[in-house]
Amino acid sequence: MSEIVFSAGLDVDWAALKAALVADYFDNGRTPDEYRRSHENSHAIIVASLDGELVANGRILSDGVCNAYLVDIWTASAHRRQGIGRQVVERLTATVPGQHVGLFTEDMPAFYASLGFRPQHGGMSRVVGSWLGR
Ligand SMILES: CC(C)(COP(=O)(O)OP(=O)(O)OC[C@H]1O[C@@H](n2cnc3c(N)ncnc32)[C@H](O)[C@@H]1OP(=O)(O)O)[C@@H](O)C(=O)NCCC(=O)NCCS
Repeated sequence: MSEIVFSAGLDVDWAALKAALVADYFDNGRTPDEYRRSHENSHAIIVASLDGELVANGRILSDGVCNAYLVDIWTASAHRRQGIGRQVVERLTATVPGQHVGLFTEDMPAFYASLGFRPQHGGMSRVVGSWLGR
């Protein structure tokens, strides 16, 4: 029987990840090389696959001391509500014990609430210059 394989390594087909995100309407304009660099410069990443197909990914930024931030949390539409996203986030947060973990979400507060996250008002953000410098 097929099993989801979770990997924390950077041996990822970045073009395939980009294509999967585009197909699932969760691409934010990065090129495959920009996806690679985003992940390489993260504190930890998780990619999940099923029979060689990328079905989920996520990454966490951290200063290694007190502050961390979850980004790019995604499970392919066809594989949702099977606990994959939960595993991705739990594996990522396990790498930052004792740290405050923040995130932004517009559409999925229920998912993060199920993982113990609580709304914290006062968040602000801006893009420096134009998005991705383009
Ligand atoms: C958010 C997302 C990553 C969740 O992935 P997933 O693999 O389906 O999540 P899980 O199956 O691990 O869900 C764990 C729990 O979260 C909650 N949850 C997940 N999706 C939910 C939804 N659409 N509505 C309400 N609760 C939800 C449930 O409590 C669920 O447990 P249950 O299925 O036993 O009820 C996925 O829906 C996704 O990729 N969405 C589009 C991208 C996105 O919005 N990412 C977050 C950006 S900040």
